[in-house]
Amino acid sequence: MFAESASAAPSNEAPRANALLEVEGVTKLFGPLRALDDVSLGVKQGEVLGLVGPNGSGKTTVINVISGLLAPTSGRVLLDGHDVSGKAPFRLARRGINRTFQIPKPFPALTARENLEVAHHGGTLSDGEILELVGLGGRAERLAGELTASDQKRLDLARALVTGPRVLLVDELGAGLSKTELDELAVILRRLVAELGMTMVVVEHLMGFLEQVADRVTVLNAGAVIFSGGLSEALADPAVIKVFIGG
Ligand SMILES: Nc1ncnc2c1ncn2[C@@H]1O[C@H](COP(=O)(O)OP(=O)(O)O)[C@@H](O)[C@H]1O
Ligand SMILES: [Mg+2]
Repeated sequence: MFAESASAAPSNEAPRANALLEVEGVTKLFGPLRALDDVSLGVKQGEVLGLVGPNGSGKTTVINVISGLLAPTSGRVLLDGHDVSGKAPFRLARRGINRTFQIPKPFPALTARENLEVAHHGGTLSDGEILELVGLGGRAERLAGELTASDQKRLDLARALVTGPRVLLVDELGAGLSKTELDELAVILRRLVAELGMTMVVVEHLMGFLEQVADRVTVLNAGAVIFSGGLSEALADPAVIKVFIGG
């Protein structure tokens, strides 16, 4: 499909050699709906993969399958070469995979700190260190229900970090945030990679945010991978442009 542009990365490229996380030919059916159609992607240790696509293209379903909220209809999820497909989210959290949610649901009547205390713990960082890391150090004793939307997203990120993930899946952290709030989150995510060696899949459709955060992108359309490669190559790819401009 992309034979005409030799420099572009191939679409549907095979999962990367030595990938820490691999999604291998995953199909997910919801009744007659093929939400994911033979999706493959791979992320190396310390790499940030952006996952892009129009609404309904299957991004959250990919995150749900990797994090164990949904079992794949077929195909596999591999962590460090081990098949972890369909394992329960708490087991995957223990093995080093955790995720944030598109719509954070903290316990509103608990403080930010208490929201972390009730989460399963596994990492080496203290709750206080994690709150500092996500920029909530000064608001640890605030009730979660009284935090701004941006701070609730930071708290959801903190909640995921409490399990000490090696692989962090971030589902549309940026939606509804201001440019400044987005830039701050981008810096936090890059710090997690630089300082903790974290590996990430970041779902986002804000290209400016992905430019700051992602090393590579995989583009989904109607449940299928249509491109994997660099963000600038993606933005120049005819099939990707067609999907986003709706041509
Ligand atoms: N639990 C579910 N049951 C039925 N259909 C679902 C479910 N989750 C997602 N879908 C459908 O699967 C498709 C992909 O959804 P989703 O992964 O949420 O897309 P995205 O995150 O890219 O917007 C959509 O058509 C959506 O309506
Ligand atoms: Mg989604």
